[in-house]
Amino acid sequence: MKLLELVRGLQGISLEKGGEEEVSGIAYDSRRVERGDLFVAVRGSRTDGHLFLAQAVERGASALVVSSDWQFGGGELSEVAVVRSTDTRLALAQLSDRFHGHPSGRLSLVGVTGTNGKTTTAHLVEAASAHCGLTCGLVGTVSYCVAGREVPATRTTPESADLQAMLAEMVRAGCEVASMEVSSHALSLRRVDGCDFAVAVFTNLSQDHLDFHADMEDYYRSKERLFTSPTQGGLGARAAAVNRQLQEMNLVAAGLAHETKNPLNIIRTTAQLLCQNPTLPEEIRTRARQIIEEADRVTAQLNEFINYSRPREVRRGTVALSRVLEELRRTLSHDLEDKQIQFRCSDGLPAIEADEQLLRQALFNLLLNAIQAVPAGGQIEVAAVRTGPSQVALEVRDNGPGVPPEHRSEIFKPYFTTHPKGTGLGLAVVRQIVLAHGWDIEYVPNQPQGAIFRIFPVRVVSMAA
Ligand SMILES: Nc1ncnc2c1ncn2[C@@H]1O[C@H](COP(=O)(O)OP(=O)(O)OP(=O)(O)O)[C@@H](O)[C@H]1O
Ligand SMILES: [Mg+2]
Repeated sequence: MKLLELVRGLQGISLEKGGEEEVSGIAYDSRRVERGDLFVAVRGSRTDGHLFLAQAVERGASALVVSSDWQFGGGELSEVAVVRSTDTRLALAQLSDRFHGHPSGRLSLVGVTGTNGKTTTAHLVEAASAHCGLTCGLVGTVSYCVAGREVPATRTTPESADLQAMLAEMVRAGCEVASMEVSSHALSLRRVDGCDFAVAVFTNLSQDHLDFHADMEDYYRSKERLFTSPTQGGLGARAAAVNRQLQEMNLVAAGLAHETKNPLNIIRTTAQLLCQNPTLPEEIRTRARQIIEEADRVTAQLNEFINYSRPREVRRGTVALSRVLEELRRTLSHDLEDKQIQFRCSDGLPAIEADEQLLRQALFNLLLNAIQAVPAGGQIEVAAVRTGPSQVALEVRDNGPGVPPEHRSEIFKPYFTTHPKGTGLGLAVVRQIVLAHGWDIEYVPNQPQGAIFRIFPVRVVSMAA
């Protein structure tokens, strides 16, 4: 990932020098820096990372993150990129979260804090998850456990960079839940900033650990943080944030539609009168026809925008995928037959937890894009790939030209289109629906050619449906 992408828009961070560097890892201990790493200088209770900048650069760090007030002495600056941060601990957490693709948003993260009973509770969560058939990772005082593999622990809560790497490993290993002990030290040292907690558990608060916290009030504040951090609430909070944004946009859209409806109507009706008047010269009637077309195009665009900005309220239910896809096949049968497209659904599609209407709309948009993309006689396939005992990734695959690398970061943005008549809102709507469900969507190239749009992690209600 490029440094510029990694730091863009983060709170309290500014790029001082460079930006094009490829960052291959994040380090906060200069002895563990590897070539291409981004080194974040953190002030600890025993030592200060800023004193080891030269060592980090010597070991191959491509960029440094330093405190806003840090003054460079000399030599170490020349070759590397420099980022300033008002709080390098927060920066370490945010950068690690982004570098690893926000892993805590891809599973249900349960955080357990309190003076006593954290370990027991975290283990109970793990056991309860296993009992429900969910794969659960554990971050505890005694050990970390990533999908059955144990790693001895050194701290109650690992440093944010290690924690994010661990969560990412859990996601890759197919964990659907992660149960984590969160000490008050970790909270006040910003080790879990950037973590999206689906559930926060508070066992109790008693006079303990006060060697570190200034007083009881401070201790309470650090505990409170787990419950009040902006990302707290996990996937639900993310969906709520998307909806809040949409509500505002929808008001704008409604205003725009209201303001343009009458003038557009007047223009269109007048043009129609001109068009239908045989006494007028052909040139004027052609112009009038163009005006009608343009008015219709604007109306269609506005409707698309209003649809795009509609808040997505997810009403969860059990959806039999095979039935929904059969209905979509019928709706799209003309287009499929026109191009002689082979449309296949993999066998044994599960029943999943989703909002049926929204899911149908998302799949419709994806299928329509695939139909547009494939050549005559092409193939489109929908499959559910198992990624855990009770979760799947939904894939819509085609054998069209695929999306070229330079467009891959653009296609989900509103109004990006490569079709002359496209509005470019199809995938933006899909993305909203996906986020409202707490899922994610990604584009992956198909083999030997074509596109795969993958939606995950989707909860399975029953396998055979
Ligand atoms: N299956 C696919 N294969 C190749 N390119 C695709 C595929 N799906 C989407 N794209 C690319 O992504 C762009 C955006 O897609 P999106 O559905 O958002 O808009 P659109 O299809 O151009 O217009 P519309 O809003 O009418 O759907 C497309 O213009 C196309 O370049
Ligand atoms: Mg489209």
